[in-house]
Amino acid sequence: MKKSLRIIHEEHRALAAMLNGLRQLTDGIEKGRMKADFGLIAAMIEYIDKLPEKVHHPKENDYLFARLGARCPEALPVIARLEADHARGEARIRALEAAAETFRRDGPPAFAAFHAAVLGYIDEEWQHMNTEEHEVFPLAEQHLLPEDWAVIDAAFMANDNPWEGAAGEYAQLFSKIVNLAPAPIGLGPG
Ligand SMILES: [Fe+2]
Ligand SMILES: [Fe+2]
Repeated sequence: MKKSLRIIHEEHRALAAMLNGLRQLTDGIEKGRMKADFGLIAAMIEYIDKLPEKVHHPKENDYLFARLGARCPEALPVIARLEADHARGEARIRALEAAAETFRRDGPPAFAAFHAAVLGYIDEEWQHMNTEEHEVFPLAEQHLLPEDWAVIDAAFMANDNPWEGAAGEYAQLFSKIVNLAPAPIGLGPG
């Protein structure tokens, strides 16, 4: 697999792991097994916001999708769908944050709506990442030329550590999440 596609895949795995942690936490709250730690919920949403919105999606748009669209017109419809998802990303994360805030403010009566918001967000992200990996990656491998990969690889190499960020900007946020989250999500007190 091309270097940049491997990095995109690693970023998808990092995001999927965080989404999975958030799902386990909300499922645990529903079952009464975990307490609603609003600091932890906010930190997880912040990570989910920063990695895909500020780093991952813009690079997909500007490099991978731009090059692929130019080389392979048959990829344009799927690229248009994925770019539309990216464009809605900011609003979707704000809606998730708002649901968490309502839950914090109103308590248990607002939990069901928060839980549904989490599950809906995760479902859409899964479909999005699967489309990229199963539809876009194969077309890219087939149609892009070495000069395309050189440009795309250079862009994605700049953020090859999704857990910590290229300049370590997420390291603190990530270790905070790991230390707050109870087992089996993280290392925090159960
Ligand atoms: Fe994407
Ligand atoms: Fe992606």
